[in-house]
Amino acid sequence: MDERLDFLFLNEKEAIQAGANDMARCVDVMDEVFQLLGQGDYLMGCPNHNAHGIKIYFPKETPFPRMPVKGPDRRFMALVAYLGGRYHVCGEKWYGSNLANREQGLPRSILTTVLNNADTGAPIAILSANALSSTRTGAIPAVGAKYCARKDSSVLGVIGVGVIGRACLQGLMCVLPNIKTVKVYDLDQKAAQDTCGQVEKDYPGVRAVAVPSVEEAVRDSDVVNVATSGAVSPEIKEEWLKEGVLLTLPASAALTKHVMQTSTILVDDWKMYEAYAQELRDEPGGFAANLSGICGYMMDLERDGEIRREDIVDLGDVVMGKRPGRTSDQERIIFIMDGMPIEDVAWGYTVYEKAKELGLGTKLNLWG
Ligand SMILES: NC(=O)c1ccc[n+]([C@@H]2O[C@H](COP(=O)([O-])OP(=O)(O)OC[C@H]3O[C@@H](n4cnc5c(N)ncnc54)[C@H](O)[C@@H]3O)[C@@H](O)[C@H]2O)c1
Repeated sequence: MDERLDFLFLNEKEAIQAGANDMARCVDVMDEVFQLLGQGDYLMGCPNHNAHGIKIYFPKETPFPRMPVKGPDRRFMALVAYLGGRYHVCGEKWYGSNLANREQGLPRSILTTVLNNADTGAPIAILSANALSSTRTGAIPAVGAKYCARKDSSVLGVIGVGVIGRACLQGLMCVLPNIKTVKVYDLDQKAAQDTCGQVEKDYPGVRAVAVPSVEEAVRDSDVVNVATSGAVSPEIKEEWLKEGVLLTLPASAALTKHVMQTSTILVDDWKMYEAYAQELRDEPGGFAANLSGICGYMMDLERDGEIRREDIVDLGDVVMGKRPGRTSDQERIIFIMDGMPIEDVAWGYTVYEKAKELGLGTKLNLWG
């Protein structure tokens, strides 16, 4: 048996024991990821080094009875990356997503992450990645808010409190110390109420209210996060938006062109959207028809000259001090993020290191 081919397997429980849900730590790690992104010390897929990943697109119809067909949030996706700095590791997040999973009592998406030695290619860890992935996703709006929310933000609106929405809420609470009120809207009112109960327990002194509409979650909120799933995105009207609001969008919201044109658009990595544009340039229906709502919409607007590239701000540049974050208390900022494999590699590696320190997981050998 060649011990150089040993790797660590972490199931979901072990990943959590090793800190996969440690949001405060994850926000710091994601901040570091954006520094590495801003410096360019990373590689993602494709010759342009910036691909989000490769997706299996399911057809609307198929003559093959068992072949999956298109459905709400139904996809398979492989996200690959190398991350430098103190990581120097390659990895992949691989997941399947299907909204219909809920009918079987399963989460919408089921995820695994593989980490590999960047020089030899040997696997070093295989991790269950549900907690890993929701925590890293929840930490990204927080990094955006750390640099771009109004410092006096006291009201947080949260739309959609599935696993991702709850993680975003937690992340935002790590970086917004002045929040006094959290307003929660979800089509599932029980989920909204349960989240409010949890918020009041976790953050004594904060008032949490389940509200009956998107409008009530948005009005008077200093920061608004949207993390719903399904075919229809919540519509947010311009007149509901408070001056100086930060809108964080790990999922889509329906916004007018005017809102997009009169807000600062902050993105996780514009080069990733350029990579999408190369990949999708010959597909009919424009980008919006082929890429999840707000990302495709933003790309169509930029291609058509309705918003200008030079006005779109990369979070990596803000974190590195190359571009300012918020420039005034009046500025409205929309943070659009599609998620990047470098986030999964960084958080997976951090949890793997902690698991080794704690002696968690099962050591396996690839060639046995
Ligand atoms: N940007 C990223 O990196 C990233 C990563 C992971 C997931 N996501 C996205 O986050 C979203 C949420 O993922 P999840 O796993 O939490 O999904 P989920 O299905 O578990 O939860 C979604 C929640 O939204 C609620 N909801 C659906 N439509 C709504 C509406 N119109 N108004 C209010 N509430 C509504 C549902 O009742 C549910 O509670 C998905 O769209 C997913 O694609 C983004």
